[in-house]
Amino acid sequence: MKSQVLFSGIKPSGSLHIGNYLGAIKQFLKFQENHDAFFCIVDLHAITVPQEPEDLRKKTLEVAKIYLAAGLDPQKSTIFIQSHVPAHAELGWILNTLTPMGELQRMTQYKDAVAKAKPALAGLFNYPTLMAADILLYRTNKVPVGNDQLQHIELARSIAERFNNKYGEVFVIPEPILQKEGSRIMSIAHPDQKMSKSEDDPRGTIGILDSPAEIREKIKSAVTDSAKNFDFDPKGPVPNLINIYAGAADIAASEVEIQFKGKTYAEFKDSLAEVTIKALEPLQDRYRKLDDRDVLKILHNGKEQAPLVANKTLAEVKEKMGFLTP
Ligand code: AMP
Ligand code: TRP
Repeated sequence: MKSQVLFSGIKPSGSLHIGNYLGAIKQFLKFQENHDAFFCIVDLHAITVPQEPEDLRKKTLEVAKIYLAAGLDPQKSTIFIQSHVPAHAELGWILNTLTPMGELQRMTQYKDAVAKAKPALAGLFNYPTLMAADILLYRTNKVPVGNDQLQHIELARSIAERFNNKYGEVFVIPEPILQKEGSRIMSIAHPDQKMSKSEDDPRGTIGILDSPAEIREKIKSAVTDSAKNFDFDPKGPVPNLINIYAGAADIAASEVEIQFKGKTYAEFKDSLAEVTIKALEPLQDRYRKLDDRDVLKILHNGKEQAPLVANKTLAEVKEKMGFLTP
């Protein structure tokens, strides 16, 4: 029986990269078999940074197609768009009223985003309460994410506990799930920065939809230690490349280290490019074959299924808080 609920989301902004794949999507695939899973395209989160309307529409469909091409199965999981289910925004608002400003001010992603975003919008500040609503609406047990989201899940847990204590048990307290090697992939050009959709230097990011030629090119210029041979500083840029290798080839990082001991970085990089291309190839093939109309049908179905759970939780929340119901 599928008793445990799983929820995760990806923002349709910028282009998805191998960090999203290894940190998040690969885990989604593992769990869809034996969980009641909800995979969301979080467009309301994407607009916390200004988006071009046409781009937002395009990227939203692109994320849905990547979910499907990666192997998420709409027969087994609910795949849907956040803005199609108004309960998310509504519970997000309610949770704002239960969240002290100080807790939001501590969020690292907010502080980083403010440093980059001009203007820093109020939505960016309230981003984690909307994320808490996403998770809590489905009485989620597990949230597979990259390491950068741990703080947000911690916040969702404290909001849920606060609500349950004050108004009575409604929310399930969610747990994050991290991938061992892929939970924090760094830029391959600027290894002190996280690989991110908003990275300024395109050489640092390997896109999920990048062509083999682009992947070879970027990996060739990836930063390594200065020695010619595979003899690396554990705090330097090489462990990140090893993690990408391990995630793409589905082996442990320690196995990669053994395999390349004594080899040159050039040999390692050639091999890294090939395993990365091979890991992404089936997804890219399926992506190209997807018909947009079929994808829209799946999203339409998600729009009908997700509220069946979300609206029930929201109704309970409102009842417990004292909203008058007709
Ligand atoms: P985002 O790109 O912020 O919408 O993130 C979508 C998912 O990918 C979240 O679970 C993130 O934690 C994960 N993620 C984003 N960047 C990375 C990265 N560089 N390494 C590992 N996971 C990541
Ligand atoms: N905040 C997440 C990110 O930046 C995306 C997200 C929104 C999410 N809602 C979620 C992830 C709910 C997991 C569960 O990556």
